[in-house]
Amino acid sequence: MKLLIKNGLVVNADRSEYADVLIEDTVIREVAPNLGAGPDYRTLGAKGLMVIPGGIDPHTHLEMPTPVTRTADGFDNGGRAALSGGTTMVIDFINPKYGQSYLEACDICMERAAKATCHYSYHATVTWFDEQAAKELRVLAEERGVNSFKHFTTYKGSLMLEPEQMLASFALARELGALCTVHAENDEIITYMQRKLLDKGITQPRGHVLSRPPIAEGEATYHAIALAKIAGAPIYIVHMSCEDALHAVIRAQATGQEVYAESLCGHLLLDESVYFNDDPEIAARYVMSPPFRSAEHREALWQGLADGHIRVIGSDNCTFTQAQRNLGLDDFTKIPNGAPGLEDRMRIVFSEGVAKGRITPEQFVAVTSTNAAKIYNIHPRKGVIAPGADADLVLWDPKKQHTVSAKTHRHAIDYSIFEGMTFTGSPVMTILSGDVVFENDRVTAQPGQGQFIPRPPRQRIPPCHS
Ligand code: URP
Ligand code: ZN
Ligand code: ZN
Repeated sequence: MKLLIKNGLVVNADRSEYADVLIEDTVIREVAPNLGAGPDYRTLGAKGLMVIPGGIDPHTHLEMPTPVTRTADGFDNGGRAALSGGTTMVIDFINPKYGQSYLEACDICMERAAKATCHYSYHATVTWFDEQAAKELRVLAEERGVNSFKHFTTYKGSLMLEPEQMLASFALARELGALCTVHAENDEIITYMQRKLLDKGITQPRGHVLSRPPIAEGEATYHAIALAKIAGAPIYIVHMSCEDALHAVIRAQATGQEVYAESLCGHLLLDESVYFNDDPEIAARYVMSPPFRSAEHREALWQGLADGHIRVIGSDNCTFTQAQRNLGLDDFTKIPNGAPGLEDRMRIVFSEGVAKGRITPEQFVAVTSTNAAKIYNIHPRKGVIAPGADADLVLWDPKKQHTVSAKTHRHAIDYSIFEGMTFTGSPVMTILSGDVVFENDRVTAQPGQGQFIPRPPRQRIPPCHS
């Protein structure tokens, strides 16, 4: 496909300029004012629109099995949700069961994603760690382009990794040029609080937020950062939701430690009061970890984003239908954890961030695309509008309003946690590897059109002996 995008405002993370964009095959060839092209090009008028790099959502759980169920969104409809919201690539997770081969789990995930409609890549969740695990993780990083390892400090008995194993995994990651990511919540605090609340008869969804206080997240964040410092490995904190954790990140960054923080679109928008809805079915829809927090924490996140301490906004898209949520109506600890966000992530950041004057359009591009591309080592192939980059772009109308409804969204769930909210700023067209895949409010990407994007190792650092 040959495309010429005319008269748009090209917004990259470092600058904005009025320019035309020439696309041939799957790649951006030229970015300059007053470009011309032959009759075999489709010309797209972008006057009044921003032309931005396709969004990269580095935190999704599509079609993910859990101990009792699996997430509702798959790589086909999830990809369509992504594309309609301006996201062209996701990074999902390979989650081996305890002791399961990492390579076998990777094969299963690749098969599952064969029907993807947007581009994708994977992190590997380190659910067990020994010599064999280390061998297989090495193969993932060196041969399969899976070079980020996720670690859980909670969910003992399923996903949690003990601290000594986490430290060993961090040390391996350093050597492989893989990035360590961490879900940071203190398991002992949560388990203790859950028990106490259930003993008192608090079984409703509100128990979820009551059992996961900000200090549990702050402590685990500080702990994980300390382990990364000792291992000499860069670290990336996923879904950071509160000021307590942000303080740990800022303190470490101030010492020069390579620490990245990601927050979620939901945490920038929603209030903890959602868990106190009188209808437990509605309250259950918001159960995710860490939970949504109070206004004070939200404002701290916005400040952290504006100041550059938080580098990435993801969605942590992890969807469950109402029926799946209802599995835990009698016991909040049994409600499957997770929330949608893939479709609305970029709209939320733009509407709440740029339209409200909290961040600039360039910062919007940085936190929804470019920074993830840099941190996950696919920049400048992705995350930038420049000659030679992949032609994943979005024509974004900064004034277009979009009202969220479960009746029209592309998520495979029967409600939305953003139901009825109107956001300012929305895509009018999404281009995936040079093909127009979203226009006139229709997604035309076909299953299999999304490609696996292998990520080369980051800088390798010799083993740390200090
Ligand atoms: O509650 C959440 N965030 N569910 C998704 C899995 C995870 O912890 O990231
Ligand atoms: Zn998590
Ligand atoms: Zn997640």
